[in-house]
Amino acid sequence: MTHEPIVLSAALASFDALWSPRVVTRVNDYDVRVAKVAGEHVWHSHTHTDEFFLVLDGELHIAVRDGAPGPDGGRAERVVVLPRGAVFVVPAGIEHRPSAPAGASILMFEPAGTSSVGDRHDPVPDHVDVTTGHSLTHP
Ligand code: NI
Repeated sequence: MTHEPIVLSAALASFDALWSPRVVTRVNDYDVRVAKVAGEHVWHSHTHTDEFFLVLDGELHIAVRDGAPGPDGGRAERVVVLPRGAVFVVPAGIEHRPSAPAGASILMFEPAGTSSVGDRHDPVPDHVDVTTGHSLTHP
């Protein structure tokens, strides 16, 4: 990990892959990751960790199942809309599915080693990268 300043716009300009986070730096045992996103990710949850999102550009939607349990045991679903500059934390264990109908660039903060699709997830579509984050310089 370099100890030089990292310009996020330059980091984002260095790759094109969607839903494929790059690790820009580390804080203690947390990764700071950036990703370009468009369309839908996959429903998933992180059993042991919260997940922090910051929208750098565009608009991010996150569908979350954090409502009251229904008759089938599933929790009610809502969609959180995050404009540029918004932050949001998905609590550990909560099922969520990020999406960006018009595309977005986002920053995430989560423990190193956290999978992009969590510990439990729906079948992963081809356009979603299953990763713990790629290096910026060696994607
Ligand atoms: Ni997640």
